[in-house]
Amino acid sequence: MDFYVINGSPRKKYNTSKILDALVEGAYDELEDRQYDDDINIEIIDLYDLDYKGCKSCFHCKKIDGKFYGQCPIKDDLLELLPKLWASDAIVMASPIYFGNVTGQMRSFLERLIFPKYVYGANSLAEEKTTACIYTMNVDEDTAEKLYSESVFNLLERFIEYSFGKTHSLKVYDTYQFKDYSLYENYMFDEEAKRKTRDEQFPKDLEEAYMLGKTLINEILDK
Ligand SMILES: Cc1cc2nc3c(=O)[nH]c(=O)nc-3n(C[C@H](O)[C@H](O)[C@H](O)COP(=O)(O)O)c2cc1C
Repeated sequence: MDFYVINGSPRKKYNTSKILDALVEGAYDELEDRQYDDDINIEIIDLYDLDYKGCKSCFHCKKIDGKFYGQCPIKDDLLELLPKLWASDAIVMASPIYFGNVTGQMRSFLERLIFPKYVYGANSLAEEKTTACIYTMNVDEDTAEKLYSESVFNLLERFIEYSFGKTHSLKVYDTYQFKDYSLYENYMFDEEAKRKTRDEQFPKDLEEAYMLGKTLINEILDK
């Protein structure tokens, strides 16, 4: 089983990363519960450790009878990774929201993941697989619903679903952003309220991620 977990946050020990660790723990626990004894490859990929750019619009991936039809010819750190992702059983994509979207690194990655398999006016060349989209953000749920629901979450998930079929979505709101709020200039967020969310809500978010990890494994095994 090949299960890829893509971290679109530059921080490896913060909110997005912790959510992904909980998801991976849930996935392993479910595999154990179901006594899965085949090869297991659950891999966390930190996008900020990789050297790559977004789609360069060369259209080699769409050239009829071309050498790179349905592939991406760009020689960088995604060259070998993309085919593994296309052939995998599951891809989880997680990103903080930066200026009202997923991070630039995640967007560039998604261009490279989706476009080679994207066919204008027809079905994707990608095979169906289990996927999930996870977002962490500073704003609360009501604000996120107003600001990002259509422009970010639904739009992105439509492209994921076009490519790989029905996806799962997990949103983590009102995250704790700094280690110590007193050290950084901020007139918008109240540290007390943030700490309360971190202590009371974030553990529930981790639990939701853990359960999502289990759900994804069940989806793969029950296909
Ligand atoms: C450059 C930058 C831009 C951000 N823009 C937004 C934003 O538009 N909306 C929002 O809700 N949070 C925004 N945030 C906050 C992060 O999305 C939030 O803290 C997230 O949980 C960080 O994830 P991490 O802890 O895994 O790094 C921004 C953070 C940074 C560093």
